[in-house]
Amino acid sequence: MKRILAILFSLTLIFSLAACSGQNGESNPSSGSSTGESISPENSSAQPEQPSEPSDTASSETPNAKPVEGKTLVVYYSATNNTEAIAGYIANAIGADIFELVPVKPYTSDDLDWTNRDSRVSREHDDESLRTVELEKSVPDNWEEYDTVFIGYPIWWGIAAWPTDTFVKSNDFTGKTVIPFCTSSSSGLGQSGELLKEESGTGNWLEGQRFQSGASEDTVKEWILGLEL
Ligand SMILES: Cc1cc2nc3c(=O)[nH]c(=O)nc-3n(C[C@H](O)[C@H](O)[C@H](O)COP(=O)(O)O)c2cc1C
Repeated sequence: MKRILAILFSLTLIFSLAACSGQNGESNPSSGSSTGESISPENSSAQPEQPSEPSDTASSETPNAKPVEGKTLVVYYSATNNTEAIAGYIANAIGADIFELVPVKPYTSDDLDWTNRDSRVSREHDDESLRTVELEKSVPDNWEEYDTVFIGYPIWWGIAAWPTDTFVKSNDFTGKTVIPFCTSSSSGLGQSGELLKEESGTGNWLEGQRFQSGASEDTVKEWILGLEL
């Protein structure tokens, strides 16, 4: 009997040990998962930032910022290039042709010295009969094809620099929309546009615009966008 009891006890002990060993040997599916599932090589290593798209620098070079009906010409006179820059911005903004007024006898810096009472420009200012300035070319090619004409000039003593008058007197503006613009140190457009309009006697002249010498291309574009052409 003792022997039977000993055998039963041994068997019970063996089954108990087997059961314990089975529980401990099984891997726990959740063990380590708190880290293993959420971090992977793909999502743990930060991807290098993609280089950003080049910024849009084309705006200041974009022609046709404002479509204008028909053909447009930008005419200008400029002694020291300020008005020339504005003329270029306008032409660029609307895709217009450009025509420079060039005096047969260009103004040198001595000629332009308004502080000298004896300079060319001072003498012309003092004596209106001296202000007739002959131009290399005063009628643009295909003039009749243009529907809209911008006319730019520097302000001299409050009015349009006089090479501009030669151009205005030499052309027929019938059927054209004319938009004066000028540059100056401080004076406004004043009567300059009105006086040119009277000289021309034809055309639909709009009020026009004065720009500070050295005005930016964006300033000019804003003006163009506000025009009802
Ligand atoms: C002879 C002369 C007269 C000028 N008179 C005026 C004037 O009355 N008022 C003004 O604000 N600027 C005056 N200026 C400055 C010019 O209008 C200004 O510098 C203009 O932007 C020049 O344009 P440009 O570089 O296209 O020639 C005068 C300049 C010169 C040379």
